[in-house]
Parts: sequence; C-alpha cells; structure tokens
Amino acid sequence: MRQFQRTLVTTALPYANGPVHLGHLAGVYLPADIYVRYKRLKGEDVIHIGGSDEHGVPITITAEKEGISPQDVVDRYHAMNLDAFTKCGISFDYYGRTTSRLHHKTAQEFFLEIEKKGIFTKRTEKLFFDCKADRFLSDRYVTGTCPICNNPEANGDQCEQCGTHLSPLELINPKSKLSDATPELRETMHWYFPLGRFQKQLEEYVDSHEDDWRQNVLNYSRTWLKQGLNDRAITRDLSWGIRVPLETVEAAGKVLYVWFDAVLGYISFTKEWAAKRGQNDLWKEYWQDPGSRLVHFIGKDNVVFHTLMFPAILMAWNEERTSGCYNLADNVPASEFMNFEGRKFSKSRNYAVYLGEFLEKFPADTLRYSIAMNYPENKDSDFSWQDFQNRTNGELADTLGNFIKRSVDFTNSKFAGVVPIDCPPNVMQSFTVILTHGNDVEIDELGNRVDLEDLIDEIGQAYEDFHFREAVSKTMDIARKANRFLTQNEPWKLIKTDRDTAAKIMSVSLNLCHTLALLFYPVIPETSNRIHAMLGFDGTIESLINRGVSIWDMAKKPGLKKGHRLHGNSEILFTKIEDADIAPELAKIEGLLAEAEKREAGAEQDRMEFKPPISFDDFLKIDLRVAKVIAAETVKKAGKLLKLQLQVGSVTKQVLAGIARYYTPEEMVGKNVVLVANLVERTIRDDISEGMILAVEGADGKLFVIEPDGFEINGKQIQ
Ligand code: 2FM
Ligand code: ZN
Repeated sequence: MRQFQRTLVTTALPYANGPVHLGHLAGVYLPADIYVRYKRLKGEDVIHIGGSDEHGVPITITAEKEGISPQDVVDRYHAMNLDAFTKCGISFDYYGRTTSRLHHKTAQEFFLEIEKKGIFTKRTEKLFFDCKADRFLSDRYVTGTCPICNNPEANGDQCEQCGTHLSPLELINPKSKLSDATPELRETMHWYFPLGRFQKQLEEYVDSHEDDWRQNVLNYSRTWLKQGLNDRAITRDLSWGIRVPLETVEAAGKVLYVWFDAVLGYISFTKEWAAKRGQNDLWKEYWQDPGSRLVHFIGKDNVVFHTLMFPAILMAWNEERTSGCYNLADNVPASEFMNFEGRKFSKSRNYAVYLGEFLEKFPADTLRYSIAMNYPENKDSDFSWQDFQNRTNGELADTLGNFIKRSVDFTNSKFAGVVPIDCPPNVMQSFTVILTHGNDVEIDELGNRVDLEDLIDEIGQAYEDFHFREAVSKTMDIARKANRFLTQNEPWKLIKTDRDTAAKIMSVSLNLCHTLALLFYPVIPETSNRIHAMLGFDGTIESLINRGVSIWDMAKKPGLKKGHRLHGNSEILFTKIEDADIAPELAKIEGLLAEAEKREAGAEQDRMEFKPPISFDDFLKIDLRVAKVIAAETVKKAGKLLKLQLQVGSVTKQVLAGIARYYTPEEMVGKNVVLVANLVERTIRDDISEGMILAVEGADGKLFVIEPDGFEINGKQIQ
C-alpha cells in the first residue's frame, strides 16, 4: 500500500434542490466524516471538501413551479443542508457552492484549456424548441408517450413507469412542459467531450485499482468501458448555469452541462478553502502533489462520473503539461443505498426522513451510531425506527452510557472523584486482563488471547479500508467487554473487604472510559467530548489534535494517572427512546405507505379504465402473426431493451422489445411469439423496430411474453 503525505476527501455535492435525507447521510456524508475524524485522530494531514451542486434543470423546474428565481431555490437549500450537516457533526473543512465566482472561473478555465487543445468535438443536432416560451427544451422539459410501455406521461430522459432511458425524440406526441405546446425541432450546436479518446487510459486507470477499489465500483466502471465510451455533450441551451466562455454566436445562450461543472467544484472549493486560510496556493498541494491522496465518497448512482468522466476531464487538462497536473482519485468508496423501512427513499414521493427534521427530535450521535451500524457497504441496507430505538437503548445507553456513568459515579462516591492508583504495571497486559473477569485472560472463539491493542489496530485497519460497520461494531465490542468487566468484578461489593482491588478495578475502568472516549470519537464525536469532559479534561478532543501526533494510538495506553481528578458530576449520556417517542414516526410511515398503496391502486384503476371502443374493421387492420425468435441480443445503453430477429414465414423482422429485465437473449431464442406485423416502423436508440410482440403484465409488473404453442408453420396470421 502506497504511503501518502496528505489526503483530500471529497463528498458528492448534493443538489441544492431539496433537503438531504438519511439515505444521503448513510451513503456519503457520515462515512466520509467518520473517516476524516479518524484520520485527524491519527495526526494525519486530511481535509474534507464538500458543497452544494447549484446548477441543473431540476432547480429551474422547482423555481418555475414556485414562481421564484433559481437563485432563491439554491439559497434556501444550501443554507438548509449546511445547517443540517453542521447539526449532525459533519465536519467539512469547507462547504462551497457551485454558484460562486471562483467556481465559475475554474470551470470556464477547464473548458477553455480543453477547447484550446482541440479535444472537444462539436456537433449540430436537432433539439426540441418551444416557440411559445422561445426556448430550447432540455430532456426534462419534454413529456410524451413512452414508445416502450405507452405511459402517456414519460419524461424526455426516462419513463418512470417502465424505467427505460429515453431521448425526447423517441417520445410519441411530445409536449413542452413549459407551455404545453408541441415543440418543433431546431438545429443547435453543442460541444462534446470525446470520452472514447481516453478509453485506453481509463481502462488502465481502472485496472490499476483492481485490488483496492470496491467490487461495485469496478463493475459499474467496467460495464461502461466494455460498451465502448461515447462522446458526451457538455453544453446545454439554458440560461441557468455556467456560461460557455466564448464570445461567439455559437456559444450564445449556452451553459456548461451540470455534471461537467459539478465535479470541478471539488477543485474550486479547495481553492476557496485555501484562500480563506490566507494561503492561496495551498490547494495545489492537495490536488497536484503526487504525494497527496484523493478519495471521493459518493453513492452508487454517481460512480461513472467519478471513475470515468472526471478522470477523463483531468487527463485532458494534464495532456501536454509538465507542471500543474492534477492527481486522479486513489479511491472512490461508493456506497450502495440505505432504504427506509424496507422501501427506497424517494424525494418525489416524499417518502423520506429529512436530516434536519430528524435532528429536531433526536440527538445527532444516536443517529450517527445507528446509521454507521447499517452502513450500506456491499449491499443495500435498511433504516427502521425499531432498529434505531434498539441500538440507542441497548447499545448506546445500556452498554456505553451505563459503563461510563457507573465508573464515574462509583469513583466520585468511593474515591472522592480521583483516579485511586496508576493502572497496574505491564499495562497492555492488564488491559487484556481487565477485559475479563478477575485476573484471567479473555479467550476468543478461536482460543486466541484478546488483546486491547490488537483490537484497536483492527478497528483502525477497518477504517483505513472503509469498512465502517465493522470498525464501529468492534468499538462497541470493547465497550461491551468493559461493561462486563465492571459488572462481573463488582467493586461495589469488594470495596467493603478489599479496597485495593476495588481501586485497581476502578483505575482500569476509568482508563477504559478514556480509551472509549477516543475510540468512539469518529462516530459519536459529541458524546466522546462529553465523556472526555466528565473524566476531568478541560479541552475537547479536537483541541488535542495535532499533525504528527496520534491521539488514536493514545487510546491503547492508560491516559489517566493516579491522582487525576474527574470533573465531578456525571451525566446521562443517552436518553432512552420510549415507544411513545417513535409512535408518531411509525404512524407517519403508515400514512406514507397507505398513500403509496392508494397511488398504486389508482394506477391499477387507471389500467382498468378501458380505451374507447374500436370497430371490428379497425381490429381487422391489426396484422397479428406467429413468429419465431431466431436471434436476440441486448441493446447498448438501453438496459430494458432486447433486439429480436423474428422469422415470419419467409420474412425476417427486427423488433426492439422492452423485456430485457424479464428475459435473457438466450431464453428468447427459439420461442414462438405473437407479432403485430403491420405497425409503422419506429426508430428507437438509433435502430429500427418493425413491430411489437404481445406480452401481458403480471401483478408484480413483470412482463410475460405470450407464447402460442404448437405452431410449426411460422407466419400464419391469427384470426
Ligand atoms: O447526484 C447528485 O446529487 C449530484 N448533485 C452529485 C454531484 S457529485 C459531484 F460531481 F459534484
Ligand atoms: Zn415506459
């Protein structure tokens, strides 16, 4: 493993278009904060850079809906999200905004550098234009009927009903969302980033991380690489965004694509952080010194932007340069998703718990702990109120809180609030001993001696490897052992007969309180500081942090000497959560689930509303044929489609069918299907579809292709 001098941690910039919810916290911001806090404790040079993504079409749609300006929208959500993050203890070194002047300048510099090198390609294409609103319409501003499932309200970029990614040109009866007008096609020129030009370099880059990137990150990246990388448009006809920095007619009215600008936010914000510290060039150390390590914390939906797009932009910048080259990410720990009570968080359906609202009711550390214990590392996880209650009451309050309070209270009452003796000699050994009963050494399931120092090293390694759930659960294991040690040794009984042994027990208990305060700091920092204060220290744990000094390693050694005076009073670290506290939350979920069911029932109802009658003659116009599937393949970048070659008598027809989620190409080959053979040809994904095949939808939305059996002669018309 390479050694780095410093680490730059970035977290995906949330759109300033709505409040962040617990899903965002679980996948990105909490793991990043835990990691950064751990690194700070180790005395390493680390900074955490984040901020708001303030461009993009959804923001202008919100503004139009509410009759306010896009700036008003982003001002509102930037402030709201920063406030929620602060209350949750997410310790950004800098939290920027992509509407800042410096960010606009940085993104424009990148554009100009790549333009100057002649790397961009330009293409004139036809896009929808709303004559009433006098505007080109980006994908999200166009709606129409889905060519795959006939949903009449498909969006220009995707059909929510069948999930197919679409282009607005594929929609049947397209309409502008701005005016309801039927848009017309007009020519417009756009800049494209030729991702394919960097294919080989990107493959080498991804391959070089075979051993240290998560499997999901490698898989997502390689799926794209295997399909072959295409040119990506990086400009848009919009007014909200970063102006294309050229004074040409072509550039007028155009802005940079939001993703091109957002990833560069990481750089701009590091520049702003450095300027704020009065060291304008300091950012370069983190971005351009090969001794620096770059780590992007993101959700799985953002992987390719961080493993392919952004690195390619940096490669384009670095090309032909001998200085001022940027480092590529060393790791991209992308999370899976955390669901909420078994269902996906959904902003559009308001099925979410928003971070700010949560923190008005419950303390940040209880949330941080529960979420860390449910970190969606390799697979989707779930947050439930019941689990939150159990962890808070059983683990935080009954185990950690109880151990600390009993240790401090007993010392206060029987030893005048003073550490009675030094931790016994051969300290690490005694730590081992104190984790057990009496003087025996604790043995694990494999028969190995349990050693506190080893446990702490294992936890540290788990943080280094981004295994947050493992690290936090092993930390709680130490608290469990400590709690058991105190309970089993019963100093409250011993004190009557053997004060010296009781003193020894309390000395190691208090030292373990100190150890736990430090070890828990990455995950529950506020609580750690309260324990630290209860133990009689004046400053916070942050005040101890110093480059080159490992506070983390201090947790392995006794930190409290004989005579050290505790603060005095103890406090209850965690208030238990009663059933009554979460009852309103459970009721709210029931309401949300009932609404979802109603919506689903409504959709079912809609399905039962029959279309207007057609005459028998009309029906006879439909030419239904039995056909045999002679070849089938998946369609690049259209995950829902299968391309089928059908034999109808002596004729072959090609059909693009939205069944890829339900059938593999191999399963389809050889099947007899029913073909609507006289449908007008359509172009889908630059390919021709010459008909449709009949399928029925099961209760769970799964499609079943209708398979007429016993037809030996293909192409016979069905009467
Ligand atoms: O998916 C999102 O919420 C994006 N706003 C993330 C951007 S990450 C980075 F590129 F800035
Ligand atoms: Zn559809």
